[in-house]
Amino acid sequence: MRRKVIAGNWKMNHNPVETREFFEVFKGLVKDSENEIILCVPYIDVAAALEATAGTNIKIGTQNLNHEESGALTGDISCKMLQDIGIQYTIVGHSERRQYHNETDEFVNLKMKAAFAHDIIPILCVGETLKEREAGIAKYKILTQIVLDFDGLTAEQAKNVVIAYEPIWAIGTGKTATAEDANEVCQWIRDEIKTLYGAEVAEEIIIQYGGSVKASNAKELFEMSDIDGGLVGGASLKPDEFAKIVNWR
Ligand code: PGA
Repeated sequence: MRRKVIAGNWKMNHNPVETREFFEVFKGLVKDSENEIILCVPYIDVAAALEATAGTNIKIGTQNLNHEESGALTGDISCKMLQDIGIQYTIVGHSERRQYHNETDEFVNLKMKAAFAHDIIPILCVGETLKEREAGIAKYKILTQIVLDFDGLTAEQAKNVVIAYEPIWAIGTGKTATAEDANEVCQWIRDEIKTLYGAEVAEEIIIQYGGSVKASNAKELFEMSDIDGGLVGGASLKPDEFAKIVNWR
């Protein structure tokens, strides 16, 4: 049985004071959870989040990284800087970064490799737009992203990637893919991983669903055979709501 991994993505929300307040409440609510819990917070909240969660079952991640170790890259934070402060996870290739920061699959692939080179697990986001779904090319789009974003990764690395299937039309819109539809896409992804890396890696890899996950739909989604948890945006901002998602069973 694969474990369930529930990750929060705070996006551009919360300051360090709000971060401490969040964890003060949240850590008690999830202390008995058997699920893996990750909160991907803004860079300015990382120090407060790491301090507030020390010694708990909550892991802290970021929402991006730069693949270079250092250099003249104004405004960026490098893979090495994140490793140096003990970050274990980072989101890579979120659709908002692909859309608003023109991140290509080639660039996403560099970030995947840089993350592994610095002992950071990437949470790789893939997904289709509504237009692509309606045109019948969702499968092609998603599997192309998988092939390009995993290019050059070893089987050992691939097995540790957390993939988040996030249909772009479901992000922040209140529209959720049906549990059956989301599961079908997660199966396509798992089959592609099998083709690329073999059955063992495909069986072990964690594939989450993301896009308007909330306390009221988490159970239905997470009970599906190929959905191994969720990447949660809006509903991860409030400790009680996110704790209900983490404690879905
Ligand atoms: P949402 O965001 O849960 O607010 O739809 C999910 C995400 O973008 O990771």
